[in-house]
Amino acid sequence: MSATTSNPKVLAFVEEARALFKPESVYWCDGSKVEYQQILKALVDSGTAQWLNPAKRPNSIIVRSDPADVARVEDQTFICSKAKEDAGPTNNWADPAEMKATLSKLYDGAMAGRMMYVVPYSMGPVGSPIARIGVMVTDSAYAVANMHIMTRVGTKVLNALGQSEDFVRGMHTVGAPLPTQGTADVPWPCSKTKYITHYPETREIWSYGSGYGGNALLGKKCHALRIASVQARDEGWMAEHMLILKLTNPEGRSKFIAAAFPSACGKTNLAMLNPTIPGWKAETVGDDICWMKFGADGRLYAINPETGFFGVAPGTSDESNYNAMRTLNANCIYSNVALTDNGDVWWEGMGAPPAHAVDWLRRSWTPSSGRPSAHPNSRFTAPAGQCPVIAKEWEDPNGVPIDAILFGGRRASTVPLVSEALNWQHGTFLGSIMASEKTAAAADTKGDMRRDPMAMLPFCGYHMGDYFAHWLKMGEKGGAKMPKVFYVNWFRKSAAGKFLWPGFAENSRVLKWIFERCDGTAQAVDTPIGRLPAEGSLDVNGLNVDAASMAELLKVDKEGWKAEIPSIKEHFATFGAKLPKGLTDELASLETRLAS
Ligand code: GTP
Ligand code: SPV
Ligand code: MN
Repeated sequence: MSATTSNPKVLAFVEEARALFKPESVYWCDGSKVEYQQILKALVDSGTAQWLNPAKRPNSIIVRSDPADVARVEDQTFICSKAKEDAGPTNNWADPAEMKATLSKLYDGAMAGRMMYVVPYSMGPVGSPIARIGVMVTDSAYAVANMHIMTRVGTKVLNALGQSEDFVRGMHTVGAPLPTQGTADVPWPCSKTKYITHYPETREIWSYGSGYGGNALLGKKCHALRIASVQARDEGWMAEHMLILKLTNPEGRSKFIAAAFPSACGKTNLAMLNPTIPGWKAETVGDDICWMKFGADGRLYAINPETGFFGVAPGTSDESNYNAMRTLNANCIYSNVALTDNGDVWWEGMGAPPAHAVDWLRRSWTPSSGRPSAHPNSRFTAPAGQCPVIAKEWEDPNGVPIDAILFGGRRASTVPLVSEALNWQHGTFLGSIMASEKTAAAADTKGDMRRDPMAMLPFCGYHMGDYFAHWLKMGEKGGAKMPKVFYVNWFRKSAAGKFLWPGFAENSRVLKWIFERCDGTAQAVDTPIGRLPAEGSLDVNGLNVDAASMAELLKVDKEGWKAEIPSIKEHFATFGAKLPKGLTDELASLETRLAS
């Protein structure tokens, strides 16, 4: 399809990209179902994908990537602001002109022998006052298919854009040209050299060399977090790495909760949970990204800018996430999972293993192979509308009013199951010192603990000291109408290294307490680290956790917190003069409270 807009800025951008990449042809995506099917077929025909058994998983494909292209590459991710200072101490920085010069060389002819797809997309319902538009060019049919599920793609987006210049320009190539006619392609073209680069001032994204996940689906982390966080700062709103869920109590009253957990720390699971407490209902609005703006009533309203879930496959089962499993029944893309002999998918933690399968590296696999069949960062891409518990408000252009914000990471010790912040500033402090054990969602980082403020460490497009200041400023603006803030930890471990808390659906007990704290009905006790559930206020009816474990989960570990103060100070020191006074004050108050 040829150009479907007369917008001169869009046309100029696409022409510039074409001249640089020198693709064999250019295709403008219209966003139709027919087009989606054609792309799936192309993926299968080229050997990148295989159809799954239509009797098991209709209209679904499995894709296996190159083993060197399986997760976000944080080392090669750059914020190319004009001033180094604006990228801050937590981001890689490069001079925008120098980075563009480097990439222009790599981009020159990079799409030879390939098609360049033009993907106009909207993050958020088309026409919503909170939504934003992007135009992405890419030579990856896999990326286009994923964008079709994850965002609103097509001509309707260009129509909504009209003649406006307000769109994010995204350029992506896998960096594997097919220079001579008939050069054989590989199932997963990519390059050893990878760059994921962002130009916050000009709202541009240049990505090179990877076809996987957040490296290649530019609407997700690159646009909806790194670029959008800068726009949010400039325009007075928030772009956050948060799920959004709707919680309804037995009387039928609902609250909306947003939660920031680092990658692979439980957002998709919490967003879709089936409460274990009778009469309570949870529904999904979003599972990864949350854009919040003040409404006319002065409250924060949130939209999920995405339309799909790019979820972690391993660990997803009928037991852990029933609603995700139902979402996966049809029309999905599976990346780096195992293929069973009857044409279905499998991954560790899904249930009984198949007697035989082909693993994510296309090798023969049996349960006694002694290695996982699916990559730890294997993923499903699933349409959000297929989720059986999707909330009816999930595409409301005005968003949903947020009552509570949760922070949490994987913490084996020190951090209790739940605590409530004393106020917005204290909540911002808790978010700013969040830490988590690393996961497989980012390449080369599994293992140790790292501070991951607001779960935004790899996703904030500017200086994190300024980001903290923005949080405090939002609090000043919103005053008493701001959401209450809570700090949760599903990952506390016993001395023997076992999880103390059953997690998953049982997290609904903590959500109930949070709901009732927002209502002012549940009791809490003030402690040096925040407000903890008062004796008997956390619903443990029918819960199979012994009293000693419960006591450990809700313990105020003063010594543990005291031992952590030096590492918090070290963390804060990295932000230098940009660390807002409000946070230094909170740290001082915490020390005083712990000492008394
Ligand atoms: P991203 O998509 O990378 O942003 O991850 P996410 O935050 O959505 O994480 P997800 O819900 O996919 O969970 C990642 C892993 O954490 C899975 O292996 C889950 O099984 C596990 N997990 C999620 N919730 C819980 C919980 O409450 N307790 C325990 N122990 N594990 C959990
Ligand atoms: C994450 O890593 O937080 C993800 C997966 O949600 S990706 O889209 O690859 O960023
Ligand atoms: Mn994520």
